[in-house]
Amino acid sequence: MKNITIVYWSGTGNTQKMAMAVAEGAKEGGNSVNVVEVQDAVKEDVVKSDAIALGCPSMGCEVLEEEQMEPFVESLEGEDLKGKPMVLFGSYDWGDGQWMRDWDDRMGKLGVRLAAEGLTIQNTPDEDGLAQCRELGSKLASL
Ligand SMILES: Cc1cc2nc3c(=O)[nH]c(=O)nc-3n(C[C@H](O)[C@H](O)[C@H](O)COP(=O)(O)O)c2cc1C
Repeated sequence: MKNITIVYWSGTGNTQKMAMAVAEGAKEGGNSVNVVEVQDAVKEDVVKSDAIALGCPSMGCEVLEEEQMEPFVESLEGEDLKGKPMVLFGSYDWGDGQWMRDWDDRMGKLGVRLAAEGLTIQNTPDEDGLAQCRELGSKLASL
């Protein structure tokens, strides 16, 4: 059994729906999954997890949400996360997903093991989108 932590920020609930579906997938096989909003996340606990999923929509102009998620991600950059299984996900609207490509690159530079490319879903995830989220969680758990 693995301990998996999912940390997310969501302003209008779309990325939150993704987080819950990622959690469903990650729970397969009896893993213990903790889903936390970023303001409640304790970095030390997150870093100790066997695998980490981070979720944040595209905000500003193709960047992470700046008040809470960006500082949390910056704080992770000070940690040794080499080899740590990780996935990223988030909702967007009008952009082309640049924020997620940048985020994948950024976490990749820390030497984490990305189980898949960051999953982006336009606005509210539909059934197909939720299925993609569950698959992402299950890929993370299987690393
Ligand atoms: C202040 C603000 C900035 C945004 N900037 C972008 C952006 O640069 N690119 C984009 O594709 N969507 C952008 N969006 C749209 C959100 O990413 C989209 O509404 C998303 O579904 C919100 O997810 P959430 O419900 O988890 O907060 C922005 C939304 C807001 C409120």
